[in-house]
Amino acid sequence: METDKIRKEALAELEKAGDAASIEKLQVKYLGRKGEISLLLRTLKDLSVDERRKLGPKLQSLKNELEGLFSNRLAMAASDKQQATRVADLTAPGKKVSRGHLHPLTLVDADIRKIFTSMNFSVVEGPEVETEYYNFDALNVPEFHPAREMWDTFWLKPANGKLQMANGRSNKPSAISDKLLLRTHTSPVQIRYMEKNKPPFQIIAPGRTFRYEATDASHEVNFYQLEGLMVGKDVSLANFKFVVEEFFKRFFARQKIEFRYRPSYFPFVEPGVEVIIKLNNKWLEVMGAGMVHPRVFEYAGYNPRDWQGFAFGVGIDRLAMIKYKIPDIRMFYSGDLRFIKQF
Ligand code: FA5
Repeated sequence: METDKIRKEALAELEKAGDAASIEKLQVKYLGRKGEISLLLRTLKDLSVDERRKLGPKLQSLKNELEGLFSNRLAMAASDKQQATRVADLTAPGKKVSRGHLHPLTLVDADIRKIFTSMNFSVVEGPEVETEYYNFDALNVPEFHPAREMWDTFWLKPANGKLQMANGRSNKPSAISDKLLLRTHTSPVQIRYMEKNKPPFQIIAPGRTFRYEATDASHEVNFYQLEGLMVGKDVSLANFKFVVEEFFKRFFARQKIEFRYRPSYFPFVEPGVEVIIKLNNKWLEVMGAGMVHPRVFEYAGYNPRDWQGFAFGVGIDRLAMIKYKIPDIRMFYSGDLRFIKQF
């Protein structure tokens, strides 16, 4: 067939054509006003109706196909030429590489660890899913004690009715349940650590905590706490004052800061205190603390006559809010990049 022959030829020639000029030449040869296809199209009128019906559509589709091919090849040749003439501009300014940002809570956590480890504290961790025993009982908060209401708790439904945790305490009295909950504070880490280690020691335990509370600008259901515990033969409240004041002074980068200690109640300390600091002319409650209660030592397997120590607990989110002047705790958990990018 004439059309098949023309198509084959055109494709073969196009294959060989290297630059725009030779492609254009071929375009004229096949598709130009006097090109092969145009000439054939013009002969159609001399053919019989039947022949015209056969050849007409074939010619038209070949014409369309070649038009497409030529315009593609011309475009490619043009872009090749552009590439070849493009030279790297060594004076052009570099492109800014955008880096990720550390979350403000991560920054504060790192700060806290640095300050305390420099004072010879070790960093330890405990589980976020806790047993009722470690979160309450061993901290001298028995069931039905009104103090339990200080901590609104997320209780976990046991799968298949088993109330057990793999690493639950093995030598606890059988009357105490291993009911599971999301820890309401980091204080259970005190017990877990003391069960396995002998004093003297000083530790901090930063970590995630949970409370079944309504959220507002200063309360979240999920937040972070820092626990501190120092135990020795004669560790006193005076030692606590030194450590805590040193910490806050360094944490707030030596801004002018004043301290006040107010009596407070937590079942796991006696006496209990609340630390209040004055920063930028504002008094802020920042920490709960006190001397470890003798009953807590007993639960952990220590003889309270041999040891004494202090413990403290502080909200990491609240510290970050003060340090970075963040008005709403919920911003930490919003996942909003416009917020994170400021740190
Ligand atoms: C406690 O949780 C005690 N375990 C602290 C403690 C430890 C006292 C050792 C004595 C010895 P409290 O419930 O007050 O205490 O919480 C401590 C801090 O956690 C608060 O001061 C606050 O900063 C933070 N916090 C408590 N609830 C929330 C919440 N819903 N959202 C954000 N931060 C919270």
